[in-house]
Amino acid sequence: MQKKYYSLYIHIPWCLKKCPYCDFYSLVTSDINFNKNIKQRYINNLLLDLENDLFFLKKNKIYIKSIFFGGGTPSLINGKLISYLLNEINKKVYIKKSAEITIETNPSSINKKNILEYKKSGINRISIGIQSFNDISLKLLGRIHSAKDAINAIHTVIDNGFTNFNIDLMYGIPKQSLKEAKNDLYQTLLFNPKHISWYQLTIEPNTIFGKYKPKNLPKNDILWKIFKEGKKILKKYGYINYEISSFVKENIFKCKHNLNYWNFGDYIGIGCAAHGKFTMNNKNIIRTVKNSNITKYINGNYLFSSTKIKDSDKMIEFFLNRLRIFKKISKKEFTLNTGIKISSITEYIAKSEKLGYIKNNKDYLIVTKKGYLFLNDLLEIFV
Ligand SMILES: C[S@@+](CC[C@H](N)C(=O)[O-])C[C@H]1O[C@@H](n2cnc3c(N)ncnc32)[C@H](O)[C@@H]1O
Ligand code: SF4
Repeated sequence: MQKKYYSLYIHIPWCLKKCPYCDFYSLVTSDINFNKNIKQRYINNLLLDLENDLFFLKKNKIYIKSIFFGGGTPSLINGKLISYLLNEINKKVYIKKSAEITIETNPSSINKKNILEYKKSGINRISIGIQSFNDISLKLLGRIHSAKDAINAIHTVIDNGFTNFNIDLMYGIPKQSLKEAKNDLYQTLLFNPKHISWYQLTIEPNTIFGKYKPKNLPKNDILWKIFKEGKKILKKYGYINYEISSFVKENIFKCKHNLNYWNFGDYIGIGCAAHGKFTMNNKNIIRTVKNSNITKYINGNYLFSSTKIKDSDKMIEFFLNRLRIFKKISKKEFTLNTGIKISSITEYIAKSEKLGYIKNNKDYLIVTKKGYLFLNDLLEIFV
């Protein structure tokens, strides 16, 4: 039987300052007692949290194909602690030799010592939250670093041995013009990153921007021009747009961890507010959410909820994730990941085909250009 591989997500729930647009779960370090002691306690609890999940999975050996330290700001944890954590994890699960191990970083906490230690710990991919190279945009986004800090941080990552790095960039920033958005892309390209995540700023309800909508957000016609011209620039420079917001220089640098989410694969999520998804007995899909209360978490209350996905929701959940990546869908893969026979969804497939959203051949479903253009309408069919 083929070995099953999981991904492992580790949430680091601290930031030096909360950015007004960001809905990711994090605590501001100055509001709490953020010290060496709490970091070590948190790391120790991450290991116990993992043990609980492994017990729940009831398997002798769990094989891991990717690890992702996300946040918050994982680069607030030094390389020695990350190294300790990875070593201990390695004793509990089998980490594939070629596993992708990523850490998210903020330019304000990147320094030579940390980067060298991360490299030594086994981390092989760095994601840098740059957002913009324009000081006015950075200020409007409430970032704590300048464009110069961002440039220095990227140099530190490259000069200390990381070739596989991602740059997070945003567009649709308040007051941003087409020229400024293009300039951010050109600045990014100067560093020749293997991967670029180019996100349109979204206004999330539970954020400061959600409460006080920023003035001067670019109008839809400007956003459309930025999107169209930005994609053209990235293509011209050899980047493949493999997912809505993800661009890669060569296929081997596609983010394996995120691909696992988009392929509706299984993953273990540890740490405050982390999410996980496991398939039990090839049938029941369970979603886990960990406690977001850090005091409860470091006192051993890890699991907040564990819910079985209803059979009626599996199909739409699969398509919601899978349609983010621009690749034909194998019918076998659909059945393997949902437990649903393709013959039981023929009615939905026929409807999508009739509207020109997908092509249906023997082994694959292929989303057409029209299907991607009217993605929400296509998804509606599978709800
Ligand atoms: C969890 S953050 C981690 C990066 C790191 N904490 C930092 O900000 O430097 C991951 C990325 O999500 C993106 N992001 C967060 N909130 C967003 C929003 N409302 N709209 C678009 N992108 C967002 C940003 O590009 C950010 O770098
Ligand atoms: S964008 Fe990054 S630094 Fe800003 S609040 Fe979110 S996680 Fe923290």
